[in-house]
Amino acid sequence: IPEHYEEDVGNVLIPHGLIMDRINKLAQLITSEFNERLTVCCVLKGGHQFFADLVNAIKKRSTQKGKTLPVSFEFIRVKSYHNDQSTGKVQISLSEDELKDFKDKDILIVEDIIDTGRTMKALLEFLKDYQPRTVKVASLLVKKTPKSNGYIPDYVGFAVPDLFVVGYCLDYNDYFRDLDHICIISDKGRAKYALQ
Ligand code: PRP
Ligand code: MN
Ligand code: MG
Repeated sequence: IPEHYEEDVGNVLIPHGLIMDRINKLAQLITSEFNERLTVCCVLKGGHQFFADLVNAIKKRSTQKGKTLPVSFEFIRVKSYHNDQSTGKVQISLSEDELKDFKDKDILIVEDIIDTGRTMKALLEFLKDYQPRTVKVASLLVKKTPKSNGYIPDYVGFAVPDLFVVGYCLDYNDYFRDLDHICIISDKGRAKYALQ
């Protein structure tokens, strides 16, 4: 834990090494299941670190013997959280012009966490209009919560308990993204970085 967050996180829930091991397994699975060029779509900001490490792991597999998978990249900005609560308003930003690039592609959406599932349901509904050939979703985390709308992604890294988690690009009001491990926020950290 970096010194600047020492008092702001409680426990480490998933250490960085374990995240990387799991991502290597997911990369292996994804490489084995796709046969055409895959357009990997990063859901910013939270999905950035998982996207970067997953793509690296897919590339690394491609340099080893055996099956390789060509990938292209897209980036989409989706936001709905304020403090530790979903506002229910899912804002999606990407230009019409860029969205045309989704047509007839095999898309893998890469997300950090499915919590209530609102973000992913809204994003999938939104992307339908741009006629991708296929759409699958990889989420590093899925939260076990009664607030879930029942959405389950195609590829999952870990299931996590119903606690607010930060680190590995998951944030609380844009803090804690610069933390390698996935951690539980402390009461102190929650108060320190709270917004009105
Ligand atoms: C967070 C997280 C997921 C989504 C999950 O994004 O990164 O995208 O919320 O929550 P849900 O399943 O309840 O919709 P956020 O709105 O915080 O934007 P960010 O990725 O920029 O942090
Ligand atoms: Mn997000
Ligand atoms: Mg966030």
